[in-house]
Amino acid sequence: MAKTKSYFTCIECGYNTPRWMGSCPQCKSWNTLVEQVETQSSSKGSENHRARLLLQETESNPRKLEEIELTEDDRTTTKMPEFDRVLGGGLVKGSFILLGGDPGVGKSTLALQIARENPGMKVLYCSGEESATQIKQRAKRMQVESSGLLIFPETDLNKITSEVEKHKPDILIIDSIQTVYRPEIQSMPGTVAQIRESAGLLMRIAKQTLTTTLLIGHVTKEGDLAGPRVLEHMVDVVLQFEGDKSLNHRILRVHKNRFGQTFEIGVFEMNQTGLRDVTNPSELFLSEFSDGISGNAAACILEGNRPILLEVQALVAASSYGTPQRTSSGFDHRRLSLLLAVLEKRTGFRFSDKDVFVNVAGGLKLQDTASDLAVIMALVSALIDKPIPVKKMFIGEVGLGAEIRSVQGLQARILEAKKSGFDEVYVPGSDVKAKGIYSVKNLPELFRQVFQG
Ligand SMILES: Nc1ncnc2c1ncn2[C@@H]1O[C@H](COP(=O)(O)OP(=O)(O)OP(=O)(O)O)[C@@H](O)[C@H]1O
Ligand SMILES: [Mg+2]
Repeated sequence: MAKTKSYFTCIECGYNTPRWMGSCPQCKSWNTLVEQVETQSSSKGSENHRARLLLQETESNPRKLEEIELTEDDRTTTKMPEFDRVLGGGLVKGSFILLGGDPGVGKSTLALQIARENPGMKVLYCSGEESATQIKQRAKRMQVESSGLLIFPETDLNKITSEVEKHKPDILIIDSIQTVYRPEIQSMPGTVAQIRESAGLLMRIAKQTLTTTLLIGHVTKEGDLAGPRVLEHMVDVVLQFEGDKSLNHRILRVHKNRFGQTFEIGVFEMNQTGLRDVTNPSELFLSEFSDGISGNAAACILEGNRPILLEVQALVAASSYGTPQRTSSGFDHRRLSLLLAVLEKRTGFRFSDKDVFVNVAGGLKLQDTASDLAVIMALVSALIDKPIPVKKMFIGEVGLGAEIRSVQGLQARILEAKKSGFDEVYVPGSDVKAKGIYSVKNLPELFRQVFQG
């Protein structure tokens, strides 16, 4: 048996103590003592002998840079185009991936779908959250018929490690990192010490056996990944699955990627049989767009290399309180205040006695300032209660002087707008000269053209 010695270290001041205490005796901080484990290896017959065999160091000597052989990233497609797009072209062999998301958003569904789309792939699905029957039920609903899929409802990492060695899967799925544990550590599963040690062990297995590993992770109430921050440093890729559960679409974002870019998003639609790739998100986000209503405007944002069209809605109502309300969903609150100030100061539209509500339809979050112009148009249209004439699209950043500033990827955005039937596209003063493209320099000029023209 391997002998283990455990003690507790304060994460604030580094003080060590043999037993857990609520507050650190040295710096007096509360809840900062984290369990540490030292394993003293024995000569033979340890419980996690197999785990140690898997983890034998193969490259322990420093080598010159030129002596290290370069191998091409061994990428395999997941056969899910939107997932591949986020990963930067597919799964890299031996990569260590963390997938976080709200409860019920579809993390387990996405993991199971990888197995469904790749029936020839050996997948070991370890679940500590659901029984084998529950997983079977989901698999039946999703019509998973993969002979390479092994379901293992286990949370003991030593047993999981043994199965990895036995079956040598292409992909190891851990659902979730908060439920697995290393028996050598006394702390409960889900604690900082357990998550850190478990992830450390899984990382070494992933790297040394080149097993692609997908860790599913819980999120906190604030939406951050639960567990120690070091978890995000350990993994190669951090993915976040988002979506309003009342709506069917889901967005997969990448916050970190050691093998690719981090600006692409993947869009899916959740239905009875699992997740459907939405390769044309504009269609989805504009599906309920109605241009006969005041306060509605169409915007075009660039997510990665892909332009996405969406609908911005605004409502302006007389305020019943001294301080008017400013509520926005999907658009930065401070940017909304800034745009309202520009409108008041530079164009004379009065919002100071009005409650203002802005909503980005479909639950998307607008981070691209090119959507400023559409938000402004939605606000003005709502204030004067005049719908924006049909099939108009607004692209541009708005400056503090009410000038309309240029944006990245204008051609791609215009192309996407035209493809979706927008006959008139208002863009920042530029060289773009084509039928239906209107260059505008500032807000007063734009309002004249749209509402009076
Ligand atoms: N019969 C069904 N038809 C359509 N969608 C369903 C059906 N059953 C479940 N879903 C969808 O699947 C979601 C649950 O997916 P899943 O279990 O993969 O989420 P999860 O992120 O793994 O959740 P948890 O955090 O609880 O593990 C539900 O919220 C719902 O949107
Ligand atoms: Mg789940």
